[in-house]
Amino acid sequence: MSRVKIKAVLGLTPESQEITVKGWVRTFRNNQFIALNDGSTNNNLQVVIELGLLDDAKLKRITTGAAVSATGKLIQSLGKGQTVELVAKTVEILGDSDPEKYPIQPKKHSLDFLRENAHLRFRTNTFGAIFRVRHSLAYAVHKFFNDKGFVYLHTPIITASDAEGAGETFAVTNFDLNNIPKNDKGEIDFKKDFFGKKTNLTVSGQLEGELGAMALSDIYTFGPTFRAENSNTVRHLAEFWMIEPEMAFCDLNGNMDLAEELLHYVINYALEHNKEDIDFLTQRLLEEEKQKPQIERSEMDLLQKLQFCVSNKFERVTYTEAIEILKESNHNKKKKFQVLVNEWGVDLQSEHERYLVEKHFKKPVILIDYPMAIKAFYMRQNEDGKTVRAMDILFPYIGEMVGGSQREERLDKLSRRMGEMNVPAHELEWYLDTRRFGACEHAGFGLGFERLVLFVTGMTNIRDVIPFPRTPNNCEF
Ligand code: 4AD
Ligand code: MG
Repeated sequence: MSRVKIKAVLGLTPESQEITVKGWVRTFRNNQFIALNDGSTNNNLQVVIELGLLDDAKLKRITTGAAVSATGKLIQSLGKGQTVELVAKTVEILGDSDPEKYPIQPKKHSLDFLRENAHLRFRTNTFGAIFRVRHSLAYAVHKFFNDKGFVYLHTPIITASDAEGAGETFAVTNFDLNNIPKNDKGEIDFKKDFFGKKTNLTVSGQLEGELGAMALSDIYTFGPTFRAENSNTVRHLAEFWMIEPEMAFCDLNGNMDLAEELLHYVINYALEHNKEDIDFLTQRLLEEEKQKPQIERSEMDLLQKLQFCVSNKFERVTYTEAIEILKESNHNKKKKFQVLVNEWGVDLQSEHERYLVEKHFKKPVILIDYPMAIKAFYMRQNEDGKTVRAMDILFPYIGEMVGGSQREERLDKLSRRMGEMNVPAHELEWYLDTRRFGACEHAGFGLGFERLVLFVTGMTNIRDVIPFPRTPNNCEF
């Protein structure tokens, strides 16, 4: 008999039909009731073992974590908390789990503990919910772009460029590290390396994405990106997934519209398709917040936050306006910011971004027209000569969710800026070619996928929304 997933079983009308289920034991009560979970839903199926069906030796093997197959009749549940239950005819232990050694006990574990046991944490309610939501969001991203006629472009993972020019790349080499070839000048001789040049893992697919957009009109990437920034925060990963659309014949306004529509769409998708998981995560967060002093608790619960976010337009504000708001804020005057905001031109710290979003506007904010000096070389220069057509989307509790811009399509202006910022033009001739042959207005952005999953799940540490996080001094699994 073929196995039915528990999510489907829980939706069946009980008519004493015979079915087979397979899953992992969450708990086993009174030598009689198995709470079985197979990850298709957070809800367990109760499998009832009638007295005398199994001998003692077999009953002892039904332990938390064991893999079990059960066949029996689906009936209306007699107990509370579930509508159907399975009265077992046969129970097979597929994989034992030593209760003395199995780390995931049927009790509340700390997130720290579960992070150390990330290979088993999928078996908890919290992580089951998180990774089902993560999946839905990924699917929704592809659906959104597909429905709009965007082409999914696979940009390379190994590259010779540092798109952001921030120097935070991981080198890729197959040199024998104990015997690295040197040239006459005593420098590393990358000509002898695998690719014949210095290469690294990509920090962004944007530059290659722009090449695609200059022929296909609308493209997007969705892949892993790597940054060796040594910031050990709850919002940074060394390996994270980024979604990067790029659109020809599009300016910053079109770019903002698309980003806002995408965020509304994917959050709505999760609200619609992951109701059970989001309800569970909402309860989880409420419980967690009970530990905090009243003043630190959020005004809205997770579900309300998500609903608020999809039903309100994001605030659009220039960098210059934002600096004025921050400068004049009581927070700044009372020196509550760690870094005080005194002058135009400073880069915004995450405390400033969060103030704008959480205290001032109380909703997601799109900040545009940043100072040229603090942004990447490829952003389109404004007429004022000091700002660029950049946009960052800032979210409550998260900070920067999206970074993007209209691109500088004018060859002379782009080349001059590259010179000023020491971006090696001779290595980016292919990029400059799009400005030589059929250049046009274009724009795009990068959405940090884990930051999105953080927001939608209400988790606070980015290490908890990617299966196996890579952070400084940590590359387990
Ligand atoms: O702002 P960033 O650096 O922008 C770019 O890479 C552009 N090339 C994107 C583009 O225009 N196509 O990164 C984009 C987003 C950030 O807003 C943030 O959400 C996320 O990527 N991000 C990170 N997420 C997790 N860990 C990190 N270390 C991240 N760095 C950036
Ligand atoms: Mg950024």
